Amino acid sequence: MARKILTQHIEVPGIETIEVFRQHGGYSSLEKALRMNPDDVVEEVKKSGLRGRGGAGFPTGMKWSFIDKKSGNPRYLVCNADESEPGTFKDRWYMQKNPHGLVEGMIVSSFALGANTAYIYIRGELIFVAKILEKAIAEAYAAGFLGKNILGTGFDLDLYVQPGGGAYICGEETALIESLEGKRGNPRLKPPFPAIAGLYGCPTVVNNVETISAVPHIVNMGGDEYAKIGIGRSTGTKLISASGHINKPGVYEIELGLPVEEFLYSDEYCGGIWKGRQLKAVVAGGSSVPILPAHLITTTAKGEPRLMSYESLSDGGFATGTMLGSGGFIVYDETACIVRNLWNFTRFYHHESCGQCSPCREGTGWMEKVLHRIEHGHGKMSDIDLLVDVAKKIEGNTICPLGDAAAWPVGSAIRHFRAEFEYHVLHPDKISDPKHGEKNPLMLVSAPVTQ
Ligand SMILES: Cc1cc2nc3c(=O)[nH]c(=O)nc-3n(C[C@H](O)[C@H](O)[C@H](O)COP(=O)(O)O)c2cc1C
Ligand code: SF4
Repeated sequence: MARKILTQHIEVPGIETIEVFRQHGGYSSLEKALRMNPDDVVEEVKKSGLRGRGGAGFPTGMKWSFIDKKSGNPRYLVCNADESEPGTFKDRWYMQKNPHGLVEGMIVSSFALGANTAYIYIRGELIFVAKILEKAIAEAYAAGFLGKNILGTGFDLDLYVQPGGGAYICGEETALIESLEGKRGNPRLKPPFPAIAGLYGCPTVVNNVETISAVPHIVNMGGDEYAKIGIGRSTGTKLISASGHINKPGVYEIELGLPVEEFLYSDEYCGGIWKGRQLKAVVAGGSSVPILPAHLITTTAKGEPRLMSYESLSDGGFATGTMLGSGGFIVYDETACIVRNLWNFTRFYHHESCGQCSPCREGTGWMEKVLHRIEHGHGKMSDIDLLVDVAKKIEGNTICPLGDAAAWPVGSAIRHFRAEFEYHVLHPDKISDPKHGEKNPLMLVSAPVTQ
């Protein structure tokens, strides 16, 4: 059995209550951390090599060390629990099952950063999870772990849960800050970065649920020990939400470095492709990363086994690799229609674009329209290159990464599955049924390039 850190006790009945959580070692890191110097806590997180689990994988200790401690302004810790990316559902699962794991992480991390006010900004639709968190927070106040003079150390912290409005863009950290301030969630231009001017113009750290929840374990075991778990610069464990055409969809905690093939096929994780079908493709990091065909998700272009790590998944750059992202593993079997899937993604990005930048606002709309006509049998051959062109014009030309997130799946789907787009153009009669992938599985897996 692989090593579990975040989920070690997650199936224990009653772990969502403070009593049971404490019986299993919960809040022990709080007592340890509060006896340390805050900067030493930051140092342990740096030594652990922990990287942000929200998507970008930026080293957490380094991000914390950027926080402006000299301005004299209040500092804030904000937990990003917006989680709206298609295919990603690990944070919601974790908070629902183990709310005190996050609350303890918020307290220890706030102490390290010198924040006396902290927020958990949660996706608005998850109101039932917000209530679970509020109950856990009330229990933590009653136990003296929140409020004034925590455990007699002189450290004060108030922790609030703030439901968002239900927009994907509010997960982008500066849009989240705007939303938390009561405004429309439009991303801000960076710099200044939140560590200098974030919430209410004050130094702020925004971290993902899973990142913050890892901190108590790092304090307990020590940064050096945590760094021994995983592989290379991909240290520790990672929650992966696995969905699509697999036998066992769900959330799994893996040790970084696990071979992708083992993750997909072993009974401990996904349990193989459903109905004994062939694997066709995987989107490994939530909908915003490049899609990879079966042979490139299980092995790199150099023929080495592909591993579940930041480095291995991105090996080969976007030509033959992808990204770990937020760890939303979407699996497609041989009957999946790549064009239809891409049209679906693009509809999402068009709908969720905040509209501030014209390449994103207009480009996502164009891509959606062109994909609609290819998928519905009205496409032209030139549409395929038009899509590539529009995606390229969005990439790198926007205020926030939502534009890139919309463009990357398009570029990669055409790079790896161009034949399937051409098949749609050449055989409108064969794709008129919405279940055309299921009806012509092998034709689409190995669709002819031209006829
Ligand atoms: C459109 C968009 C949506 C995002 N949604 C989330 C989200 O739901 N949760 C999250 O942690 N990060 C999300 N991010 C990334 C955040 O901007 C930020 O990098 C992250 O919260 C930092 O935390 P970390 O360092 O712990 O990963 C999103 C980014 C973009 C561009
Ligand atoms: S890239 Fe899109 S979502 Fe991001 S700021 Fe620009 S228009 Fe808004």
